[in-house]
Amino acid sequence: MQPPTVVIAIIARNAAHSLPYYLGALERLNYPKDRISIWAATDHNIDNTTAVLREWLTVMQRYYHYVEWRPMDKPTSYAGEMGPKHWTNGRYEYVMKLKQAALNFAKRRWADYILYADTDNILTNAETLNLLMAENKSVIAPMLDSQSAYSNYWCGITPQGYYRRTAEYFPTKHRHRLGCYPVPMVHSTFLLDLRKEGTKKLAFHPPHKDYSWPFDDIIVFAFSCRVSEVQMYLCNKVRYGYVNIPAKPHQTVEDDRINFVHLYLESLIHGPPMYLSRYIYTPPKQTDLMGFDEVYLINLRRRPDRRERMLWSLYEMEINAKVVDAVDGAALNSSDIKILGVDLLPGYYDPFSGRTLTKGEVGCFLSHYYIWKEMVDMQLDKALIFEDDVRFQSNFKRRLMQIMEEVEKVELDWDIIYLGRKQVNPGDEVAVENVRNLVVADYSYWTLSYAISLQGAQKLINAEPLSKMLPVDEFLPIMYDKHPNEEYKSHFLNRNLQAYSTRPLLVEPCHYAGDPEWVSDTETSTLWDDDKVRTDWRGSHKTLKGSSPPSGIQSAYYRDEL
Ligand SMILES: *[C@@H]1O[C@H](CO)[C@@H](O)[C@H](O)[C@H]1NC(C)=O
Ligand SMILES: *[C@@H]1O[C@H](CO)[C@@H](O)[C@H](O)[C@H]1NC(C)=O
Ligand SMILES: *[C@@H]1O[C@H](CO)[C@@H](O)[C@H](O)[C@H]1NC(C)=O
Repeated sequence: MQPPTVVIAIIARNAAHSLPYYLGALERLNYPKDRISIWAATDHNIDNTTAVLREWLTVMQRYYHYVEWRPMDKPTSYAGEMGPKHWTNGRYEYVMKLKQAALNFAKRRWADYILYADTDNILTNAETLNLLMAENKSVIAPMLDSQSAYSNYWCGITPQGYYRRTAEYFPTKHRHRLGCYPVPMVHSTFLLDLRKEGTKKLAFHPPHKDYSWPFDDIIVFAFSCRVSEVQMYLCNKVRYGYVNIPAKPHQTVEDDRINFVHLYLESLIHGPPMYLSRYIYTPPKQTDLMGFDEVYLINLRRRPDRRERMLWSLYEMEINAKVVDAVDGAALNSSDIKILGVDLLPGYYDPFSGRTLTKGEVGCFLSHYYIWKEMVDMQLDKALIFEDDVRFQSNFKRRLMQIMEEVEKVELDWDIIYLGRKQVNPGDEVAVENVRNLVVADYSYWTLSYAISLQGAQKLINAEPLSKMLPVDEFLPIMYDKHPNEEYKSHFLNRNLQAYSTRPLLVEPCHYAGDPEWVSDTETSTLWDDDKVRTDWRGSHKTLKGSSPPSGIQSAYYRDEL
């Protein structure tokens, strides 16, 4: 038996940035292409969408059963629209007509199924089509993940046809319950089984004669299902793919692209990741250092997975970075440590684990230290440092460059600027005048990412920290004189580091303690001078395993974990 026949409906507008990934996912679907026809329309574009789609279809038409191609070059906008992301009634109506045309096409060709998938919905799970078919439903959607609470379904609808928040939404979105559920609305990506009696009556256009709900293609179709007594289903059993958050009416295609870059980075974290189409030429990106003299990525050589993810993430954001091999705590034995001149800060004791320094922490400290040293040796004015398991906030590059520009403009005398850290004492920090989104740093943990000036690097080196080592993320607050432990501080005389932090933070750890993927360094690391047990390096951030922390700190930690 040959598998059922499918029409895939592609309706593209101003999607040149997402199309290479969208089409890349379609071409990787594990389904025989000679059982698939493509129906593709594009119109009202101000970007390169038509050329990209045409290039792909030209190559792919020999693999697919049939390709229907409906490009329209003019006009480039709808009458009365504020911008390309604004939905006027004229646009809604046109999209309804396109969806109806695709449906009519599929019916005329006696297709068994039609798959609608918006061009910013990336079906990274190659089994998606097979999995949806196996559920044997009339209308079924794969739950798509986004950068936020947004997804392609509703669990509730008001009597007027608007979105209604329900108790089921988040447990579904977060996959606390798994399955295929009847819901009143699925949109963006869904599969219709045209062999089922009920789907005969479904229509996108014209709206049903009793229709009085908002004039919106997704609501019109949900209504059509309701009056035809066809139940919509949503599946969240596995990860099927991603949906970009919708741009706001006044936003631009560039705003949309920035959101999409963020979505791409998230797909690298959660998987399955997005891949480019093999059949579209994608020019190489121009990367830069964002005005820094160097951008360092600290990576442990035996964690190529993290290096790959970070390098792809930075490349996608058009940031150039130099990988520096982290000092591997596991490879250090106690005699190496002695030769390097490393000695423990007298009396250092970690309140969280009830232990002293681990080899992982020695490795982490040395990794940062060697970068400060390189900066001083090479007289680099300013550098940016990343550990290798950070997760970027949306629009990271533009936001950082904006802050650095303003820092320059007010001639702020700075040594380090945290981009990612753990604020120990919740509460307000003093804002820096005339620099938006910058505060004076209070006691902080972690060194996920920070900018550092030559003067800052020099101060840290001058403190000769190797001979009185404690974790690097404790050392920095000592150096800017915000560490609460007077005893530790007494070993360092010039505690005049000028430390700032972005607010909000621009990066966070990839996995918080308590996440299923979390691997703690305290569980896999050993005491710094014990050669008997293997140790690990996972950057600067600690977990809470073991003894209970001092009460003030506890609440700060647990808030994020919960
Ligand atoms: C538009 O896309 C086509 C096909 O991928 C490509 O050859 C061309 O260089 C692109 N033009 C621009 C301005 O990006
Ligand atoms: C699929 O569902 C239809 C009813 O819509 C039912 O008649 C049929 O037996 C089902 N097929 C399978 C394989 O379960
Ligand atoms: C420590 O490791 C070095 C190689 O890195 C080796 O030469 C040395 O013998 C080791 N010392 C001990 C005590 O194992």
